Amino acid sequence: MIGAMMIDAHGRKINYLRLSVTDRCNLRCRYCMPADGVRLVPHGEILTYEELFLIARTAVALGIEKIRVTGGEPLLRKEVLGFLSRLAGIPGLRQLVLTTNGLLLEEMAESLKSAGVQRLNISIDSLDPRNFQRITRRGDLSRVLAGIDAAERAGFPIKLNMVVMRGVNDHEVVDFAALTLNKAYTVRFIEFMPSGTEEGDWRSHVVPGQEILDRIGKKHPFDEMDRRELAGPAKDYRIRGAAGTIGVITPISGHFCGDCNRIRITASGMARGCLFSREEMDLKPLLREDGAPGLEKALLGIVRFKPDKHRLGEDDPGKRPLGMSRVGG
Ligand code: GTP
Ligand code: 5AD
Ligand code: SF4
Repeated sequence: MIGAMMIDAHGRKINYLRLSVTDRCNLRCRYCMPADGVRLVPHGEILTYEELFLIARTAVALGIEKIRVTGGEPLLRKEVLGFLSRLAGIPGLRQLVLTTNGLLLEEMAESLKSAGVQRLNISIDSLDPRNFQRITRRGDLSRVLAGIDAAERAGFPIKLNMVVMRGVNDHEVVDFAALTLNKAYTVRFIEFMPSGTEEGDWRSHVVPGQEILDRIGKKHPFDEMDRRELAGPAKDYRIRGAAGTIGVITPISGHFCGDCNRIRITASGMARGCLFSREEMDLKPLLREDGAPGLEKALLGIVRFKPDKHRLGEDDPGKRPLGMSRVGG
């Protein structure tokens, strides 16, 4: 059924699925998890690869063209490579991409390429080993840097995600942007979003996208770029003469909800129309009882009831953990 299309109640074409394969992670980033970790989903509730594959195949038949595999840290799940190559083979899927913290990339980059993953987004929030350790509560920056090199050697285009937090790493924004001067990297600056794990008022951590751009622009003037098809939420720019590009993702200061093209599924089979939705639909009973027809109906339902925008300003999710590590960001 190649060529099917899903349009939601607000006229948006939904063609991008974020599929989390695990809620486990080898880091404890402050903006994502509490210090002692989050309550992990019991193993029996995590979908099998067979179940995840059925969801992916059904979603593609309905009109999904891009799948981003997320976590937790997706590379931690055993035998993920075999699963990825099965995903890559789904007829009608145009892009198979993955978001990782990079810790395991040195060992896995080449196999990811052979499995058919087309692009990697790598999260890295500091270029200073001590600050990196402080943000992730345990991470070794040199592992991530080695992972980035390995990904480059394996032939992946390099896209880095930096979550900008005031007073924590905002002084590193210009250094991150400068990474694009000589290398064809894409570096994206993400406004901090509340995940229910932060101390104090989450708003005090947010550095608005415009402020980030202003700081970079003072040192390195840049020009805006065109939006591409199947694009994610970033707005992209190029520093004049630079080999790579920079981008800002502004979930707080500027809704990109108007062109949101995605739905999400957690590793335990909870489907969400929006990262910040309170409503989740449990796909497990459908998978286990009705199989594909029930699943199809459920996915269409998620798209039909996808909210027009998030309501972060109106109802403070800081009071109720969203579980970024479960939903996959
Ligand atoms: P590309 O396909 O490379 O553009 O990736 P992406 O930006 O869609 O995915 P990635 O996993 O790299 O996510 C980057 C940041 O954007 C993360 O902080 C995500 O949490 C955030 N993000 C992605 N989609 C949404 C969304 O629908 N809503 C909100 N609020 N944030 C999102
Ligand atoms: N705010 C902004 N971005 C976040 N991510 C995880 N938690 C948050 C948050 N609270 C990002 C990660 C990763 C992506 C999947 O989501 O850094 O790049
Ligand atoms: Fe792990 Fe990513 Fe959460 Fe950091 S942001 S703890 S790397 S899932």
